Amino acid sequence: MYNVSDVRRIPGIKVLLSEETILKRIEELGDEISEFYLPRTDTLVAIGVLKGALHFCAYLLPHIQLDVTYSFINLSSYMGTNSEARIHLKSWIDIDIKNKYVLVVEDIIDSGRTIEYILKYLGRYKAKDLKVVTLLDKPSRRVIDVPIDFKGFEIEDKFVVGFGFDYNQKYRNLPYIGYLER
Ligand code: IMP
Ligand code: MG
Repeated sequence: MYNVSDVRRIPGIKVLLSEETILKRIEELGDEISEFYLPRTDTLVAIGVLKGALHFCAYLLPHIQLDVTYSFINLSSYMGTNSEARIHLKSWIDIDIKNKYVLVVEDIIDSGRTIEYILKYLGRYKAKDLKVVTLLDKPSRRVIDVPIDFKGFEIEDKFVVGFGFDYNQKYRNLPYIGYLER
């Protein structure tokens, strides 16, 4: 019998973080973020990094106890010829962030190059405050030292899929976070 509540197991993908574990931690993160901002401001601009942070944004932002304005940026990174990472920017913020409290919502911080790029360019708009929340952190892969203000989980050096994370655009809509068995 087909049961819609069954986790969609896929051969070759091992569950790392269950849906229940992820959602519980995201609720806690919402509390941590609210506690930080509430004494400082009652409004916040959240900038979600597409496509990966889509699920994270959808669950996190309702748990932030402030008046949150949304904006999204879309960029992807790929390896250039001399194994140098290149960042391809597809779309950018559509609102004014000058003098605002701004929180970048990322899916994962791996080498740190993407978030470094984002912070460098957002830094030009003179926000009052610019912080970063990431669902996952892979510290062992870091090439560039970047500030992370709030984080969901630290993980080992595994290639994850699901809950927004993809492998060649596949597996994003799995409800859990798994990793590819090599
Ligand atoms: P960076 O190396 O910190 O710049 O991360 C680059 C981007 O690579 C992230 O924003 C993700 O979109 C993607 N990425 C890094 N690690 C993984 C992974 O384990 N699974 C899927 N995407 C990943
Ligand atoms: Mg990303």
